[in-house]
Amino acid sequence: MKNIGIIGTGHVGLVTGACFAKLGNNVICADNDSEKIKKLNQHILPFYEPGLNTIVEEEHKKERLLFTNSIEEVVKNSEVIFITVGTPSTENGKADLSYVEQVSIEIAKSLSNISKISSAKIYRLIVEKSTVPVLTGEWVKRTIELIVPTGIDFDIAANPEFLREGNAIKDFMEPDRIVVGTENERAKKIFQEIYSPIKSPIIFTDIKSAEIIKHASNSFLAMKISYINAISQICDKVGADIEMVAEGMGMDKRIGKSFLKAGIGYGGSCFPKDVKAFISIAKDIGYDFNLLKEVEHINKEQINIVIKKAQELLWNLKGKQIGILGLSFKPQTDDIRESPAIKIIQLLLKEDCIIKCYDPQAMENTKNILPNLIYCKTPYEVCKDSHLLIFATEWDEFKTLDFDKIKTLMKMPHIIDGRNFLDFKKLQKAGFIYKSIGKKTEGEK
Ligand code: UDX
Repeated sequence: MKNIGIIGTGHVGLVTGACFAKLGNNVICADNDSEKIKKLNQHILPFYEPGLNTIVEEEHKKERLLFTNSIEEVVKNSEVIFITVGTPSTENGKADLSYVEQVSIEIAKSLSNISKISSAKIYRLIVEKSTVPVLTGEWVKRTIELIVPTGIDFDIAANPEFLREGNAIKDFMEPDRIVVGTENERAKKIFQEIYSPIKSPIIFTDIKSAEIIKHASNSFLAMKISYINAISQICDKVGADIEMVAEGMGMDKRIGKSFLKAGIGYGGSCFPKDVKAFISIAKDIGYDFNLLKEVEHINKEQINIVIKKAQELLWNLKGKQIGILGLSFKPQTDDIRESPAIKIIQLLLKEDCIIKCYDPQAMENTKNILPNLIYCKTPYEVCKDSHLLIFATEWDEFKTLDFDKIKTLMKMPHIIDGRNFLDFKKLQKAGFIYKSIGKKTEGEK
């Protein structure tokens, strides 16, 4: 059991802190957003993540998971301190590391203050868990060394996360692997202890390799999605079936079945940001990552394909009412960051379409950026008088909608399935004109 500190209570920080507490550690989380900390102390979470509420409430009540505004309090009470602040994209795609730098300075200042009032020997393990470009660990170390007095003993390490939103707790507790970059045996031993309850393989590397594993893994997954989306464009043109192609490809263990679902492209707070950051850091060190530039281009193209399909169905888009079902970038989350659904809506608004929409979780977040849409309480309300229905997120509840009823509600029977998840036969039987991504629908011209 260890005393663990978390700095930054976003999706990664809060899941990491809650799960470490559940594993029996004493965890204290800090955030500079006082409102967020106040709500967390009332077990009100800033985002939806299945199962996280329960763990936060349970561990907070056991006083094994505490929340504070003070980084000094975290540094004072924790031997292991995880940096889990945001590293958003800047205009040119580079990762904004100013929050990581700010927190590193705060940690160093806190360590200096603590060393003045305590005669005990101080050691801290400072861990970058935020997704950061390679070489960041060296900057964190240098920043802290320049501030702390000599004699303060600390190590830096990298422990990137591989949490999927909507699946984050399982991804923490049962990861495919744990990646840890350290500089010495002392740090390695601490990681072996805190991760000992998790029966997944741990790979120990140097810090730079651990940083690259994260960017390389996410970029590979994004590339796999863009690859199958490129193949879906070929299928569209020749009338082949992308789902059959993906199934045939995935039976090769070297390719694997996962991340071969064609659709309107990847979104979220990670893939788009990490691909941009990897391209940017590669450029800085003298490598032109053209492969990843094409991954981005294909992903953007998938959005335009949906607009093209809408035009093929509706002729003129101007003034048409289009229903959007699904706003989050994927199911089981309220996150709309880089959501393909939002990008499609923005393009349709430029065509002077009227947009009605519904999402089980992401409506409030969407209202904050697109207040002028018609927000509906049910999917059927979205369908009323719509000329076209676009399914942009594959929420389970959309699979069991009454499509016979929907047909009577709509002005024209058009559906685009942006995630190829609906039962095409059922739609055809109900009399819809149906388009998907990379699947020729029978009778489609
Ligand atoms: C991703 C990585 O999976 C995770 O390891 C990392 O830590 C954070 O980024 P996340 O973004 O939460 O996780 O979701 P994920 O399930 O990976 O999906 C990302 C996007 O890709 C979604 O928009 C999803 O719709 C899309 N996707 C996924 C596809 O279009 N096709 C697929 O086959 C899989």
